[in-house]
Formats: sequence, C-alpha cells, structure tokens
Amino acid sequence: MVVTTRTRSPIRSNVGLKALMAVTGIILVLFLIAHMLGNLKSFAGQTAFDHYAHWLRDIGKPLLPGVWFLWILRGVLTVAVIGHIAAATALAMRARAARPVRYAHRAKVQGSYAARTMRWGGVIILLFVIYHLLDLTTGHLNPVGDPSKPYGNLVADFAPERWYVTLFYTLAILAIGFHLRHGAFSAFRSLGQQTPRGERRARVAALIFAVALCAGYLVVPFAVLTGLVS
Ligand code: HEM
Repeated sequence: MVVTTRTRSPIRSNVGLKALMAVTGIILVLFLIAHMLGNLKSFAGQTAFDHYAHWLRDIGKPLLPGVWFLWILRGVLTVAVIGHIAAATALAMRARAARPVRYAHRAKVQGSYAARTMRWGGVIILLFVIYHLLDLTTGHLNPVGDPSKPYGNLVADFAPERWYVTLFYTLAILAIGFHLRHGAFSAFRSLGQQTPRGERRARVAALIFAVALCAGYLVVPFAVLTGLVS
C-alpha cells in the first residue's frame, strides 16, 4: 500500500478509492450472481426461460412504469463499471507515481502479477460485455437476433457449428473468474483475521466462489453445445 503524507478528501485518498472499488465491485458481483442464476433457468425449457426474461422487463410494475427498473439497473451497472475502472486507474497511477525508480525485477514484486492480470482481465471483460450486449441484448451479432425470443437467441448462439462463440465466452468467463478470485480474496482478507491462517482461508474461499460462479455460467453454453439444452 502507498502511504502519503498529504491530506486528501476521503474520495481522493487511497482509502476512499479502495472503498469505491469495493462498493462498485460488490454491486457488480451481486449482478453476476443474479444473472448466473437467471441463466440457469434455461434448463427449465423455452417457456420458463422466455417467461423469466420477459418478467425482467416487468420488475417494479405497477410502482414503476414500463421498463423503468431495467433502465435503473442498467444505469447503476454503468456507473458501477465506470467507478470501478476509474478507481482502479487512479490507484494504479498513484502507486506508479509514488515509486521514484521503476522496479528492476517486477516479477519479484509481490502483487504485481495479480495487478497486471487484473488490468488485462478487466479490459477483456469490458470487450466481452460490449460483444455480449450486441449478441444477446440487441441481437445484432446473434443468428436469430429477436429480442422477443431470448431462448431462441441463446440456443442459436451456442449451436455446435458456432463452437468459436462458446470458446470466446469460455475465455471471457475464465478471465472473469481470475478477476473475481483476486477481488474476492482482497475483500475476504480485509474482512477476516489478519493472520497467515486467515489469509489462507480467504484464498480458499475466494477460489471456491470464483470456481462456482464460472461453473454456473459455463454450464449453459456447454449444455447447448452438447445438445442438453436445445
Ligand atoms: C455463459 C454466460 C452468459 C450467458 C448465457 C448470458 C446470457 C444473457 C442473456 C440471454 C441476456 C439477455 C437477457 C434478456 O434480454 O432478457 C443477457 C444480458 C446481459 N448480460 Fe449476460 N450472459 C452470460 C454472461 C454474462 C456475463 C459474464 C456478464 C457480465 C460480465 C453479462 C452481462 C450481461 C448484461 C449487462 C446484460 C444486459 C442486461 C440488460 O441490460 O438487459 N452476461 N445475458
């Protein structure tokens, strides 16, 4: 951690930026868990999945009109993504500025490997989300591309002849898994006991969480690829 002697406002201090990373990270993780559980509905068949997807647009009714809830959720997610990236960038730039001479042996610096993976993992995830929205939300890159047929879009997407789509999704989900493992480890370590044993537990818990989330996501494209969901 970088220690500075200057006094900053909370949001501009390292603690403020780390809090911003944590809060935005938690929002994104909650979305990831909910989205993964929703995707598993595909195993219940076309009617159940389409019903679920259409229900998503109705959440909040009649309190909120139209698809307001969905748009509020989209707004919150967008702000969370921007806040997460901005805080990460500010912290990285600050750490670099506080280092008068660049490390000669970066590989030996604890944490630099994870930090680098986080950065590139983050870029891959962002590119994936853009592709994913054009694929399954707007339908522009989907062979069916009909927003009123979410199940049809999903099954067409991961059809065996489009194995490269499943491959791309798999790589992106694995990048998310690595990213989550590191993020969850940092969070569990801060919350748990500050001892080697506490750190070991945090590492194991983060690994279990990341593997469970990745498996929950990957099972859907692979079920379509193998014909289990059709
Ligand atoms: C195998 C993995 C995944 C599958 C099968 C999947 C499936 C879907 C489907 C079917 C939709 C459209 C829902 C609808 O319009 O009713 C959707 C939307 C979306 N997905 Fe995924 N998804 C996956 C992974 C992810 C991941 C890893 C993320 C985030 C990093 C993500 C973020 C989103 C977002 C932001 C939306 C748009 C929600 C909206 O604003 O309407 N998805 N996904």
